[in-house]
Amino acid sequence: MAENGVKKATILIVDDEKIYLDVLIGILNPEYRILLARSGEEALRRLQGGSRPDLILLDLFMPGIDGYETCRRIKEDPTTHDIPLIFLTSHDDVEGETFGLGLGAVDYITKPISPPTVKARIHTHLALRRARRELERQNEVLEQRVKERTRSLRQVGAELVLAEERERRRIARELHDGPIQRLVLSKINLGRLKSGLEAGQCRDIDNISETIDTTLKELRTLMVQVSPPVLYELGLGPAVEWLAESVLSGHGIRFRVDSAESYDRLKEETRVFLFRAIRELMLNIVKHARAGRASVSINTSEGDLLIEVRDDGVGMIEPVNSRPGVNGGFGLFVLRDRIDMLGGKLSIEVNGGTCVTLRVPIST
Ligand SMILES: Nc1ncnc2c1ncn2[C@@H]1O[C@H](COP(=O)(O)OP(=O)(O)OP(=O)(O)O)[C@@H](O)[C@H]1O
Ligand SMILES: [Mg+2]
Repeated sequence: MAENGVKKATILIVDDEKIYLDVLIGILNPEYRILLARSGEEALRRLQGGSRPDLILLDLFMPGIDGYETCRRIKEDPTTHDIPLIFLTSHDDVEGETFGLGLGAVDYITKPISPPTVKARIHTHLALRRARRELERQNEVLEQRVKERTRSLRQVGAELVLAEERERRRIARELHDGPIQRLVLSKINLGRLKSGLEAGQCRDIDNISETIDTTLKELRTLMVQVSPPVLYELGLGPAVEWLAESVLSGHGIRFRVDSAESYDRLKEETRVFLFRAIRELMLNIVKHARAGRASVSINTSEGDLLIEVRDDGVGMIEPVNSRPGVNGGFGLFVLRDRIDMLGGKLSIEVNGGTCVTLRVPIST
């Protein structure tokens, strides 16, 4: 520790000439902790042995491996490559200097050594290293924060979908238990009323009864559209059948749904999510594919649920490009993100139409 409590920086001096070692020690002591090596080999041994100086002063011309080679090996090793390295050279050599800087050295100091120059350069490079490290640290902190924020945003997104689905279910139940039930009751009462009336009055009652039937039909359709009970009562397989019937055949697209089972044991939120995903893919077929046929298959494979939605339409352009807005919409982007969140994968294949495959771990 230095007197001010800040940890002293460590400098590794590599030089075969004792006279220079002594001069450098004289200049740098006691401000820095000094490590010494009398050759390139010894320096490399020290580094391989775990020494991690904050800066290396490296003589260029030494017996054995020279400074360039020593530098190359230090820079090649991922555990030492970021230690700033300054060459010590006996004469001005522009070409050698350029070569050395190209190897990754940060500076050159020429001998004979001028103490103020050595001190200033070492001070500068250590400050630069500290600043770089601090930046890297801040970068890591920021990246971590961005990751956490992204995770919580995704979480919020997923919860919004579930909250919306719960609200839809509540509205559907209220429609069923309130207006629908009351209308059914009114119709029964009208029937009773009719039995005691004359033919002329019955016609009016029939008209009211017909209006009630139409309203009931509309309300039931609305209820199913808001939240299909089949998804909760019978599971994903039957719900997808129902979906295909209402989305695809309504637009004249012939379809086939192959579902190995009902998948009613899937967690409710996964079931809701997958149902929504398949609806988005079916709506895409209706909106973009100009398809005559479509198919959905739901299977299991190696612990994953595998859903394939295929059409024989025009084929998606640039299917890999799933950034929002690039191809038009957000549907596939949001879908891919959600699938990622569930630890699954969305892949798109274009071959005589489009085939979108969703793979989701079944335990999610
Ligand atoms: N089955 C398909 N066949 C042909 N092209 C498709 C098909 N599905 C998607 N695309 C293309 O990919 C684009 C992106 O689809 P995505 O679902 O992300 O957005 P969108 O449907 O245009 O809008 P949004 O889903 O936001 O309402 C579409 O605009 C369309 O060009
Ligand atoms: Mg879409």
